Amino acid sequence: MTVVNFVQGDTRVYGLIGNPIAHTLSPLIHNSLNKILGNNAVYVPFEVFSQGLKAALEGAYELNIQGLNVTYPYKEAVIPHLIEMDAYGKQIGAVNTLKKSEGGYVGYNTDACGLLMSLKEEQIQIENHNILIIGAGGAAKAAAMALSSQKAKKIYIANRTEKRAEDLAKAVQQYYSLPIEVLPLSDIHLLNDVDICLQTTSLGMHPQEGQSPVNDDSFFNKITVAVDIIYNPWESLFLKQAKKAGCKTVNGFGMLFYQAVKAYEIWIGQEISKDKIASLYQSLKKKLKENKDWKEGFS
Ligand code: ATR
Repeated sequence: MTVVNFVQGDTRVYGLIGNPIAHTLSPLIHNSLNKILGNNAVYVPFEVFSQGLKAALEGAYELNIQGLNVTYPYKEAVIPHLIEMDAYGKQIGAVNTLKKSEGGYVGYNTDACGLLMSLKEEQIQIENHNILIIGAGGAAKAAAMALSSQKAKKIYIANRTEKRAEDLAKAVQQYYSLPIEVLPLSDIHLLNDVDICLQTTSLGMHPQEGQSPVNDDSFFNKITVAVDIIYNPWESLFLKQAKKAGCKTVNGFGMLFYQAVKAYEIWIGQEISKDKIASLYQSLKKKLKENKDWKEGFS
């Protein structure tokens, strides 16, 4: 395949729909993949307003756009416009990847896979471990389904609004039979058997960097691994607290990166070489960690 430095007549077009999208990192990841794989393709962000979502999808199909990522606030809203969905999409009730097919787009949820691939990259074992999920929103749902599918021993879900945590537990138990316990966020310091804690709320995300859902630092003395879905700031207050207590810490860049890799693999219909992915992961990680300019808004 030819390496493209410019768009040509036969360049395949992929993109991202959402709003706002001005600060997204997805074009950086996808166009880097195009470059290292020598694919004649380009990935473009499209800001879409909610009243135009249906027309945007129909237009994208007619323009032969091969694949789209979907971000806030359309991960659920696109579903009625799809011809089919993968298993994670159905379980989570949200999709982040669309692939053009005969008669329409097929939806996939690669957030769940992205989290699992990121944890694998960091050599974090799920099977037979007790995991606490903080939060009960969309990100928590993807995480809960993913972790349940990997035979976690037990999942705790702690959320400010306990009812949402209960609803999430019920949704997971429709598909998986592991034990799930719900508790208020204020009670997490009472848990004594948690190995891994996964933070899925927006607390601590730029520009609210000084916030963490965990008030009592001693909580971190009882766990070994802390994972945050936040990557801006690169190290959230939650991860700083965990690091201070000696926990292994993982930020959300890996999840973002690997959900993009999985989407790309779906689009091209084959797996990308592990070596190429690992080297791109390391180089983007280094670039972002050291680059202060993206701090003002990448999401
Ligand atoms: P997403 O789809 O990105 O996960 P969401 O559905 O709005 O977003 O969920 C946000 C999560 O962050 C929820 O768990 C929310 O708790 P509530 O269900 O109680 O609203 C949590 N969250 C947001 N702000 C919070 C805060 N100030 N304190 C505690 N939890 C907070």
